[in-house]
Amino acid sequence: MLARRRTRVTLVSLVVGVLLGLLGSAAPAFAHTELVHWQFIGGTADKPQRLLLRFSEPIDARFLTVAVTDQGGNQIALGAVQIDPQRRTDGFVGISALSAGTYSVAWWTRALDGDPSNGSFLMGVGTKVDPIALLPPVGARDPATQPAMLLGGTAWDTFLHWLTYLAIALVIGSIGFFHLVWRPSLHRATASVADGPEGSASTEGLLSSRLVPTFRFIAVAGGLLFLFANVILLVMQVEFVRYALLQPVTSVAPTALAPSALSHAAPYKALVDIFHGYNGKVWIARMVLAAVTLVLCFRLSPSAKRPGWRWGVALVAALATLATVSLTAHAAVVPQSRFAVAIDWSHMVLMSLWLGGLLPLLLTVREVRRLGSAGDAAADALVPSVVRRFSTLALISVGYLAATGLTQAYFHVRNPSLLTPTTYGRALIVKLVLFAALFGFGALHRKVSIPRLLGAPNTRRSSLERILPMEMAVGASLLVAVALMASLGTSEAVWPAHQALGLYSKVSATTGTLTFRAVPGKAGENAIALDVADRRPGAATSIQRVTVELDGHTFELTHVGPAVPGSTQRFASTSLVNLAEGAKPAVYTVIRPAYPDLTGQVPIDVRPALSAEK
Ligand code: HEM
Repeated sequence: MLARRRTRVTLVSLVVGVLLGLLGSAAPAFAHTELVHWQFIGGTADKPQRLLLRFSEPIDARFLTVAVTDQGGNQIALGAVQIDPQRRTDGFVGISALSAGTYSVAWWTRALDGDPSNGSFLMGVGTKVDPIALLPPVGARDPATQPAMLLGGTAWDTFLHWLTYLAIALVIGSIGFFHLVWRPSLHRATASVADGPEGSASTEGLLSSRLVPTFRFIAVAGGLLFLFANVILLVMQVEFVRYALLQPVTSVAPTALAPSALSHAAPYKALVDIFHGYNGKVWIARMVLAAVTLVLCFRLSPSAKRPGWRWGVALVAALATLATVSLTAHAAVVPQSRFAVAIDWSHMVLMSLWLGGLLPLLLTVREVRRLGSAGDAAADALVPSVVRRFSTLALISVGYLAATGLTQAYFHVRNPSLLTPTTYGRALIVKLVLFAALFGFGALHRKVSIPRLLGAPNTRRSSLERILPMEMAVGASLLVAVALMASLGTSEAVWPAHQALGLYSKVSATTGTLTFRAVPGKAGENAIALDVADRRPGAATSIQRVTVELDGHTFELTHVGPAVPGSTQRFASTSLVNLAEGAKPAVYTVIRPAYPDLTGQVPIDVRPALSAEK
């Protein structure tokens, strides 16, 4: 019997060990990458001209695709696409075949957490690119506020991350509750009851036979949900790879890349590519560990007295499964990735023990109080121990989550001024507000609900039982904010790409929306434009004159496109404009026959001049 148990324990730890070894062997993960810089290199006899594309994070060599089209919209044959093995943020594209002219470059790449990023810009080869070409396309995506994936993809990604957090919290929360709250409280309560071992043993037996299967059920439900969420996550990644979409270069509708260029038409091909990569290996390890955890949870013994080894090993397997979530999180891309992954993992462990423990706590208090009100002394002694133990666990979690959360915020936001201008930062603010609410609930329990519960044990429904479902709802909402954060580029990562867009500022009125743009948006020479979305019927095609007044100078802007009725029209200065640093109004006038002039101002803030090296 002992020999058989030892083999089983060795076997499970061997599986966990091998899987962790597998994870250790793969290169660190990457999150949502953005283009932060491009330039021409080479162009000498021995070094053919190449285009350097530098991204905010290292990219996966097999998934960098570049399409170059000339002003006529013709796609240009390119040389090889390579990644610099020394600096995996840099991709090179052979462009020696390009004759002088202005081209639009569209890029598509995939992070190793499976999320694609794409974008486009205009470049001039052998000619001075006219200022207009420096401006980002009309409606260009701002990485700081618009996700790399299309809204549908981001919503799905967020939902699946949320399900994953919820599922892992249910598994670790219920098994953790069994180990850290239920068993110790039971032993303590039954030891302290006067009516001797028989009486308390029956209570213990009765309660365990009712509650322990419930904890097991929650763990199994969480395990199944986790497997389901991650299978769908993989299906989604396969679809991303198969149907990658390009950012619009000049037109409004995204243009799908020719399937041949991606050569991932068949789903199994995309799957093979994903499994060759880091993300694929992590996914396999995650699913194996989750399956091991689920099997163990199914077979958890219902006895609190002799729980057996499975409860312990199930917890280890669940914690190892959780590690695979951190290994594809943002934490795995920062330079201090090993430390950051450990912080992220422990952050989620405490989240799971706290939030995942709320449901077992509610069910336990309800069940024990029901027995208590039937006059069972052991049950009466149990309630205080259970709620006090959990309250201590919650307090430790709050402290640890705040400390590790701030550390993570340092890695992924770094500068608090990036909190409000980025969607990631705003999601973190929402999370902190919900965290404060959870903290409030905790304080309420310590100050009111628990003293009341202990003071009047036989009230029909305690305030603790009334508040816990609300607390769970707030906890689940907090996890939605986190899931959104996990599906976006972090503030730290997207900000350089946002800045590469230059300055843009929008004003909206009933008549339409006006967006002022300046590239690079810093003191000195800038390409400027006004994008006019005039919603007055028939107005779009009859604009006569557009001017912008800046720093006391009035600039005449020329219509540069697109001439599509109803779409946003771009008016740009044909020469570079010198802008002084600082906040100021850009005063615009849009004149068109038979319509009242559109006049107004757009507040802009020109940043200090750029340091040379960027
Ligand atoms: C001061 C409080 C906190 C701060 C500043 C904070 C901050 C963060 C940050 C920056 C991340 C990284 C997200 C990413 O991968 O991009 C994170 C992850 C996470 N946080 Fe917090 N957090 C705090 C408290 C909490 C609380 C109270 C909970 C839940 C009860 C929580 C649950 C999570 C979860 C589930 C993750 C996901 C990690 C992942 O996907 O790898 N955090 N937190």
